Amino acid sequence: MVTEFILLGFGENPDLQIFLFLIVLIIYMGTMVGNILIVALVVADQHLHTPMYYFLGNLSCLETFYSSTILPRMLTSFVTGDRSISFIGCFLQMYFFGSFAATECFLLSAMSYDRYLAICKPLHYTTLMNNRDCLHLVVGSWISGFLGNTILFPLLKLTFCGKNDIDHFFCDFNPLLKLACSDTHKIVIFAFIIACIFTLPPFLLTVTSYVCIIATILRIPSSVGRQKAFSTCSSHLIVVTIFYGTLMIVYMLPNTQSLGDLNKVFSAFYTVLTPMANPLIYSLRNKEVKQALKKVQEKITPARFLS
Ligand SMILES: *[C@@H]1O[C@H](CO)[C@@H](O)[C@H](O)[C@H]1NC(C)=O
Repeated sequence: MVTEFILLGFGENPDLQIFLFLIVLIIYMGTMVGNILIVALVVADQHLHTPMYYFLGNLSCLETFYSSTILPRMLTSFVTGDRSISFIGCFLQMYFFGSFAATECFLLSAMSYDRYLAICKPLHYTTLMNNRDCLHLVVGSWISGFLGNTILFPLLKLTFCGKNDIDHFFCDFNPLLKLACSDTHKIVIFAFIIACIFTLPPFLLTVTSYVCIIATILRIPSSVGRQKAFSTCSSHLIVVTIFYGTLMIVYMLPNTQSLGDLNKVFSAFYTVLTPMANPLIYSLRNKEVKQALKKVQEKITPARFLS
């Protein structure tokens, strides 16, 4: 009987553990501060009360949860050297991480649909995307994100007999399945079907939106106009590409031993790096977010009290 799992992570080299601890700690703090700042700006600043920023605020909120399912546990195991995770803990981590990742797929596709309406249907934008539609899309994303995993988990009747070391830094589906000694054939097929149902539509919606957006932008005669239209969606396009790109590399490439370590590195991209990258990409590339930040800075800067 297996009562706990061991997450092997990145090996046992003590120097490497310290190095990774510092890096992951900095990334985690950056992720939390950046995303919470964006949520606060979107909630507080009247100029950011539009669907595009509501989506962004919700995405940032999601990303604080998303990285908190993995990084705090990873950090404690770097410090304590205790790499075990309870049986329930492992499945909970897999459930919540999977659900948040799926929600992110849906939110990203809702955001690209929003950009599609803004750029391709500018005259009807305000009627097609009002605050109520936006709320429906946001709530729908959260429900759909959790639905897939909630259907899949009762079907995961796995038996483990002895072997309990997971060659990964969090409880992920494939590494966990490898340890099961019951027949996993059916489960793999179920999981594949559910993953297709829940990730293919948002992915295709995202791709279609961007194909239409780019086609529309290319038809704009003036280069200034083209640049302006493109700048409103380029940050989102970067975020979408990094997220889907690394996700596909990890889950679609064959799961062979030689790719094992490379898999961990790519997993680190979408688990550790994307949640931190999003606030950076949005705040550095977006004029309105920058202006909102400047206002906050002016409010809290001591120069105001000195003068
Ligand atoms: C999330 O979206 C809803 C619905 O549009 C919006 O009312 C809310 O303010 C958003 N939350 C954040 C943190 O941006």
